[in-house]
Amino acid sequence: MKAVLCTEWGGPGKLSVGDTDPPSPAAGEVVIDVKAAGVNFADTLIIQGTYQLRPDFPFIPGLEVAGTVAELGAGVDTVSIGDRVVGIPNIGAFAERVAVKAAAVVPIPEAMDFETAASFAVAYSTSHMALGYRAGLKAGETLMVFGAAGGVGLTAVEIGKIMGAQVIACAGTREKLDLCAARGADHVVNYSGEDIRERVKEITGGKGADVIYDPVGGEAFEAAMRSVNWEGRIIVIGFASGDFNRARTNILLVKNIAVMGFYWGSYSMHRPSAIGESMTELVHMWEAGRLKPHISHTMPLERAGDALALMMDRKSTGKMVLTVGA
Ligand SMILES: NC(=O)c1ccc[n+]([C@@H]2O[C@H](COP(=O)([O-])OP(=O)(O)OC[C@H]3O[C@@H](n4cnc5c(N)ncnc54)[C@H](OP(=O)(O)O)[C@@H]3O)[C@@H](O)[C@H]2O)c1
Repeated sequence: MKAVLCTEWGGPGKLSVGDTDPPSPAAGEVVIDVKAAGVNFADTLIIQGTYQLRPDFPFIPGLEVAGTVAELGAGVDTVSIGDRVVGIPNIGAFAERVAVKAAAVVPIPEAMDFETAASFAVAYSTSHMALGYRAGLKAGETLMVFGAAGGVGLTAVEIGKIMGAQVIACAGTREKLDLCAARGADHVVNYSGEDIRERVKEITGGKGADVIYDPVGGEAFEAAMRSVNWEGRIIVIGFASGDFNRARTNILLVKNIAVMGFYWGSYSMHRPSAIGESMTELVHMWEAGRLKPHISHTMPLERAGDALALMMDRKSTGKMVLTVGA
């Protein structure tokens, strides 16, 4: 089968496209005929050897996939051959076929096309669970989102509005901010030029944001510490800037704030039912027309390297999707 291969740590330019043996399903696994694969920031890290998972070479990147069930391993009775599904294999999605644990495979509605399905699960469920389940965002609170036009950021804007929050979207270009406004953001802040703290104080009458969703880290996290309201919550989602931070505990104490980590993938290990409940609710919201997944680029599988380069250059918005055999 055709697959994107990583044979050494490095940037997208080191990836190649080649032929490799298709996977066979182990017990408890499902083999999916890939129709579309979602591109995630984690894919840019895993090929550079800077992600928590460091697979042996050669490996196939790609953590999120949509397609049809081609083969079932022993003991799998949750899906049937031919079912339309999404799956989270963690690696292996940038290929014509991939093996996924049955517990990480979920059927998709007939009306959802494969490109949408491949862009849906990680981004929406991360924001839905982080904002609701983890941070307890309440209607009427102010939510500030960093990297708000990115894959997870844009879904946080949409879900924050659905949950009844006032949403402040922060991004680095006018075009990105226009997209956030079109997805419902009440206020936008261009953090490549504007002072985040000053703008948030202005918008919130001096109080600050109640919940801050931070997939960027570095200077953005520092700005979050200075812009959060008394009893506020900062959710650490990721480090797109490449920088980690130390939270200053004197600020946590004085402002009675909580800094909380959220890692969606860990729920599949510790509390898979939470992911299942979140996905069911999100699919209902999508069916009701309340979620509008945004895909800035759809490209053939062979262009996986170009897609990852666009992401690293901050040129994508929402999600990107690779298609197979389109
Ligand atoms: N915790 C979880 O469960 C979970 C789930 C999914 C993703 N994540 C993490 O969340 C982060 C964002 O993921 P994503 O899929 O939203 O990525 P993305 O689509 O590339 O969006 C990231 C955004 O971060 C901003 N950014 C700031 N500095 C950047 C830099 N040096 N390089 C690239 N982008 C930069 C960009 O917006 P501006 O140009 O507007 O600043 C960009 O739109 C990643 O660290 C990812 O690993 C975590």
